[in-house]
Amino acid sequence: MRIIAVSGSPRVEGVTNSILLDILEKGAEKGHFGKVVVLNRLELHGCQACGYCRKEGDKCAVDDKISALIEELPDSDMVLIGSPVYMGNVSAQLKMFIDRLYCLKDAQRKPRLKPKRALLVFSQGAPDKAYYKDMMSQVKKTLDGYNLLVEDIIVATGPDYKNDPEVKEKVEHFCSTF
Ligand SMILES: Cc1cc2nc3c(=O)[nH]c(=O)nc-3n(C[C@H](O)[C@H](O)[C@H](O)COP(=O)(O)O)c2cc1C
Repeated sequence: MRIIAVSGSPRVEGVTNSILLDILEKGAEKGHFGKVVVLNRLELHGCQACGYCRKEGDKCAVDDKISALIEELPDSDMVLIGSPVYMGNVSAQLKMFIDRLYCLKDAQRKPRLKPKRALLVFSQGAPDKAYYKDMMSQVKKTLDGYNLLVEDIIVATGPDYKNDPEVKEKVEHFCSTF
């Protein structure tokens, strides 16, 4: 199996990246290939709303690393998407990536991707895990609409996530399915 993890955190050793790497390590133990793409390391461009992907071609017209990453998605079996909560939302880096997924629907708004297993990972400072649940559900709904079928949402509340039994249990449960 091929797993792509996309991280919206600029903190390479932060919570989001650590959880994503933990899942990939567990996958590697079972022989699955995976990689984390830290969006902050790429030259990022947002969607230009040029309409090319819906009217003329079936790809994004922007020639950059996000397009290259999106072109890898059809060959992946599972997509992990992580972000810190910034100002009640996903990070700007992840939002740019999500907007760029626009090219994964055709002119009839049908998803171009075959259904993929997906997981959302969030890290936040607020101790109440439910505080941003509406935002997280909306992100899930958006991704589901593009056939990135989010099976679970893992929420970590800061650097002490390793001592959070719920995070541990959710990571283990998800990893037990592949
Ligand atoms: C610009 C900025 C905005 C933030 N906004 C929020 C917020 O709205 N709610 C919250 O709970 N935490 C907020 N935080 C805290 C981060 O979500 C928290 O530190 C998170 O654990 C960082 O994850 P990371 O280690 O994966 O980067 C913010 C942090 C920064 C730098």
